[in-house]
Amino acid sequence: MPVINMRGIKREYRMESKKSSKKESVTVVVRALRGLDFSAEAGEFVSVMGPSGSGKSTLMNILGCLDKPSGGTYNLDGIETSTSDSDTFAYIRNRKIGFVFQSFNLLARTTALENVELPLFYRRRDKNENRQSSSGRRETAMAALREVGLGDRMDHFPSQLSGGQQQRVAIARAMVNDPSFILADEPTGNLDTGMTLEIMGLFQQLNDRGKTIVMVTHEPELADYTKRIITLRDGELVSDKQVTQRRSALDDLVKWKNDHALLADNALLAEDAHSAEDAL
Ligand SMILES: Nc1ncnc2c1ncn2[C@@H]1O[C@H](COP(=O)(O)OP(=O)(O)O)[C@@H](O)[C@H]1O
Ligand SMILES: [Mg+2]
Repeated sequence: MPVINMRGIKREYRMESKKSSKKESVTVVVRALRGLDFSAEAGEFVSVMGPSGSGKSTLMNILGCLDKPSGGTYNLDGIETSTSDSDTFAYIRNRKIGFVFQSFNLLARTTALENVELPLFYRRRDKNENRQSSSGRRETAMAALREVGLGDRMDHFPSQLSGGQQQRVAIARAMVNDPSFILADEPTGNLDTGMTLEIMGLFQQLNDRGKTIVMVTHEPELADYTKRIITLRDGELVSDKQVTQRRSALDDLVKWKNDHALLADNALLAEDAHSAEDAL
């Protein structure tokens, strides 16, 4: 059974616009998604691509149960979301989906560990769940931080962490409830090349360990690190391809670091040459 099964998903935005000459207003309908079929199995790593305005954010909001489609069905891990009530909708959002955003969205006055604990804390309110003790929550959050390589940064505040480390905290937070899939929206949009490769490497490792990931990106180089690329255009799915030669982000990171070290060496040599000239 697929984790994500969307059939004929439509999303229309209706906007009233007044004609300046006349009194009556006209309704403009924007068809942001025009009957989209998309499904993904557990263990996939899918990137969603497409030009600006093609419907990526609209699709992302529906996938993340932040918005309901105007038509079609969306089955998530066996739950039909299009007919579910708002409580179920909120439950799905909290428990079935791990969100990762471009801007990390961490609480500033809260340590890495506490940030990761937060979703477990909300889960406690759910009466159908086994309540986890506070030490149990702590253990679960610590394990998630260790999984993203931040075992030694648990008590740091976001301001004491690099951008890449902050995104790792956000990824740990996204995983702590063991969601059905991770939904990442331009997760490396605020990161430099080195940190981008680190985060893509982490996603690849997590995916190798069985995590299902859907990532929205407009950068084709990043999509090459995933396993499958779907492309939207004008609200329609126009291409769905498996990545045949997947790149390894960690290999690329090593190469990038070597090249960088070489560049730095050359710069130093050039500086030395200058000082030597000055000395003459
Ligand atoms: N809240 C909204 N109200 C009206 N139109 C919208 C709204 N959100 C998006 N749209 C329109 O829907 C289309 C798809 O937008 P969007 O999903 O944001 O695309 P993308 O994320 O690929 O840039 C665009 O034409 C956009 O103008
Ligand atoms: Mg968008």
